Amino acid sequence: MKIFLDTADVDKIRSLAETGLVDGITTNPTLIMKAGREHKQAIQEICKIIKGPVSVEGIGETAEEMVKDARVFAKWAPSVVAKVPMTAEGLKAVRVLEKEGIPCNVTLVFSPAQALLAAKAGASYASPFVGRLDDVSERGMHLVEEILQIYELYGFKTQVIVASVRSPMHVTQAAKMGAHIATVPPEIFGKLFSHPLTDKGIQQFVEDYKKAESAAKAKK
Ligand code: G3P
Repeated sequence: MKIFLDTADVDKIRSLAETGLVDGITTNPTLIMKAGREHKQAIQEICKIIKGPVSVEGIGETAEEMVKDARVFAKWAPSVVAKVPMTAEGLKAVRVLEKEGIPCNVTLVFSPAQALLAAKAGASYASPFVGRLDDVSERGMHLVEEILQIYELYGFKTQVIVASVRSPMHVTQAAKMGAHIATVPPEIFGKLFSHPLTDKGIQQFVEDYKKAESAAKAKK
């Protein structure tokens, strides 16, 4: 399973990219706003750091506006993916853009029917928002399961990006289900590395090493 970072924070991306474990980036207008950076400049910097796909979202409402925006974004870097909302207009834009060779990520997917339509429109990616479903007492990861089942049955090539990830459990569940990608906020990415028993084990080994060293010195 690929892991994308769900952020537009260039410094965090640069630092976490050093792990060699970041396969791509997803951004949205909220994340750009939080990063406090000019859109084009931030995306171009991100694309220099991360070689994988970088999703970029505009605010167009009609298919025409979305296509226009996406064509501009696609010129910023070859790895740009156009993020398009899950609406009828969005899917019209997907048809046009995918034919032009601009890959699309259909975002704000909250039902299996929406995911089916996104795949039929030829989207390269579909992003179910699992955390936001959990927030309204629906089972976000169950949606992912249903989407994967439908895509498998019909051999759709659309890759599922598990988005709105709120905990390491979402990531593990996504991996167990065979989701193609999970896009995770930097804080959750950091949590994937740690376990209290790992920390305890390291501390114990360091202490025992030091004890062994001083015992050996005392024998000399
Ligand atoms: O990738 C989608 C993500 O940015 C939304 O996350 O936490 O705002 O639901 P959240």
